[in-house]
Amino acid sequence: MKKNPSRNTYLKKSPSKLLETINSSIEVDYRMYNEDIEASIAHAKMLAKQKIINKNEEKKIVNGLKLILHNINDGKVSLKKELEDIHMNIESMLFKKIGKTAGKLHTARSRNDQVVTDFKLWIRNNSINLDKLLKNLQKILITIAKKNTAVVMPGYTHLQVAQPISLAHQCLAYVEMTGRDRSRLADCIKRLNECPLGSAALAGTSFPIDRNFTSKLLKFSKPTINALDSVSDRDFAVEFLFVLSLICIHLSRMAEEIILWSNQQFNFINLPEELATGSSIMPQKKNPDGAELVRGRASSVISNLNALLIILKGLPLAYSKDLQDDKKIVFSTFDDVCLALEVMTEMWTKITFNAKIMAEAVSNSNSTATDFANWLVQNLKFSFREAFQLTGKIVAYADKNNKKLHQLTLKELQKFNQNINLNAKKTFSVDESLKNKKSFGGTSPQSVKQTIKYAIKKYL
Ligand code: ARG
Repeated sequence: MKKNPSRNTYLKKSPSKLLETINSSIEVDYRMYNEDIEASIAHAKMLAKQKIINKNEEKKIVNGLKLILHNINDGKVSLKKELEDIHMNIESMLFKKIGKTAGKLHTARSRNDQVVTDFKLWIRNNSINLDKLLKNLQKILITIAKKNTAVVMPGYTHLQVAQPISLAHQCLAYVEMTGRDRSRLADCIKRLNECPLGSAALAGTSFPIDRNFTSKLLKFSKPTINALDSVSDRDFAVEFLFVLSLICIHLSRMAEEIILWSNQQFNFINLPEELATGSSIMPQKKNPDGAELVRGRASSVISNLNALLIILKGLPLAYSKDLQDDKKIVFSTFDDVCLALEVMTEMWTKITFNAKIMAEAVSNSNSTATDFANWLVQNLKFSFREAFQLTGKIVAYADKNNKKLHQLTLKELQKFNQNINLNAKKTFSVDESLKNKKSFGGTSPQSVKQTIKYAIKKYL
C-alpha cells in the first residue's frame, strides 16, 4: 500500500514538493473530520445492508472509524500534508487501525461525492450555531426595544432628520432584518439538504447501493437526483455565502449607525469602553473600533461570495480541483461573520443611550411638519398636496424668523389660515407625533408594543 491510498499505481513518481504544497487542503478541511467519519459510517452500514461487504467487515470499519474520531477529538493524531486532505488522512488512519479491510470502505463512492457530502453536512451543522448567534442578537435588540417604547429619537431619510421615531422602533427594524437573515438561512439549508453520497465520481456506480438508506442515516431529506450534477454542484455553498454576506451587510449598516451616533455631533450613545480604543497620540480619543471592524469585515465577506462565483464560472462538469478552494472560502467567511455577530451583540448589550440629547435632536429639527400638514387634511378639509404646500410656506417663514415650528404663536400661524387653532399647534409636539403613528408597523408606543409581542412569538 502506497503512503497515500489515493495515489494510483499508474503514477510511478511521487508528487513534487510544490504540487504537494498547492494540492494539500488538510489545514482547511480537517474541520470536516466529524462529518467525514459520520458519512463514512453511514456508507459502510449501507454497503453491509446491501451485502456489498459482510457484517464482520462493517463492524471492523465502523469501530475503527469511531476510534479515529475519539483519537482526533483527544488531539492524539497528527494530520499529514502528504495525504492531501481529511478524507485520505482518515482512510490512511483506518488502514493503520484495521488493516486491509479498510480498503473496502471506498467501494461505490469517490472522493467527489464524499467531499460534497461532508461539506453539506458541515454547513448544516454549523448553521445551527449561526442561527443561535442571530437569535441572541435579536434577543438583546428586543430587550432594548421593550425598555424604550417612549424614548424618542430622530428618524432619518437622506441622513436628514425626517420624523420622530422611538428607539424601540429603530431596534425592531434591526430585529426584522435579522429575522429575514434567519429565514434565508433556513431556506438555504432546506435546499441543500439532499444527499450526494453514492453519486460516486460522476456516473453513479454498478454496485447495488441504496442511496435512500444513506440519505436517511445522515438525516438528509432525500438523495440528489443526478450523479453528474451532485458532484459538480456548489450552489449550496454560494447560497450560504450569500446568506452570510447579507448578514454582514446588515451588521455593517448597524455598525455605521453606531459609529454616527457615537460621534460628538450626534452624541446619542455612549460606547462601552471595552469595545472602543484610544489613540496613540490624542489622549481624549474613544474610537468605535469594534463597530468599524465589523463594517470593514463586510468587504472580505462580499469578496468571498464573488470568489466562489468566479471559481464556478468557467468550470465544465464535473469535478475540477479548483473546487477544493470552496472550503477555505466558506470556513473563513463563516468565522468572520460569527465573530462580527458576537461583537455586535456585545455592543448592543453594553451601549447606553443619551435619551435627552436624542429628544432635543428631534425637537430642534421641525420633524413634526408632516403632522401639522396631516392636521390640515383631517380638520380643515385640505387635500394633502394643499396642506403640504401651506406647511412648506410656514416652515420657510419660521426659518426666516429664526424660529422652530413649535415656537410660532397662534397669531403667526393664523396669518396663513384663519381656521388654524390651538389643536393644530399641538401637532408640533414630538410626543403627540409619536403617539399618533398608530398604523400597523408604525412607531407609536401602542404599535411598537404589538410589534414586540409579535417579534417575541416569532423569533425567541
Ligand atoms: N480535497 C478535495 C476537495 O476538497 C477532495 C476531492 C478530490 N477529488 C478528486 N477528484 N481529486 O475538493
